[in-house]
Amino acid sequence: MADLTAAQESLLSSSSLISPIQVPADHHSAPPLKLGLMASGSGSNVEAIAHAIAEGKLNAQMQVLVYNNPTAKVAARAERLGIAKVLLNHRDYPSREALDQAIVETMQQHDVDWVIMAGWMRIVTQVLIDAFSGRILNIHPSLLPSFPGAHAIEQALAAGVKITGCTVHHVELKVDSGPIIMQAAVPVLPDDTPETLHQRIQVQEHRIFPLAIALAARQYQGK
Ligand code: GRF
Repeated sequence: MADLTAAQESLLSSSSLISPIQVPADHHSAPPLKLGLMASGSGSNVEAIAHAIAEGKLNAQMQVLVYNNPTAKVAARAERLGIAKVLLNHRDYPSREALDQAIVETMQQHDVDWVIMAGWMRIVTQVLIDAFSGRILNIHPSLLPSFPGAHAIEQALAAGVKITGCTVHHVELKVDSGPIIMQAAVPVLPDDTPETLHQRIQVQEHRIFPLAIALAARQYQGK
């Protein structure tokens, strides 16, 4: 961002649009949401949710983190944050369904109500979806339905879109397809690389994920 003027920098920092913007205040009198996290990567979203809880912005508690990759950085992060963690290595299971069955059992053992996929890089099956029907959320680094799948950021750059962003949505069988809860828009800059764009998208992911969890829970309880 070296070539931006101060005015452009200022516009950029204020130009992220989040929708819906009216998130009702969290009901701290209600029992905390019991979250089960699923992650495969660095875990920055897990940490953002943990901070939102610690700061009283999200009335929830983290029951357990399931991760599938023994070398994922999220494991060390969970350790530092004091989050219970369970490694379920997908290579140890004969099928996607068998892995999901192990995830369901782990979540149930830890008394989880809501499953939060925070950078989970495996396709999930009906086994998980049926066990937590309407209570599984995912975050994706694009404005869905544009650019579903594992290469959203590269595809946004290749398509030449000028605005992309991130989406929190309900999980359905078809990848990155469920009903949208919240989105944040992020401008694409002329010199963006996948790394620089992802960094700016992640700033917004960390803002909207805790808000979207609260909103989804509110909507679910209102049903
Ligand atoms: C995020 O960009 C998310 O949108 C995608 O995976 C990434 C996970 O990042 N599904 P982190 O591990 O939370 O840092």
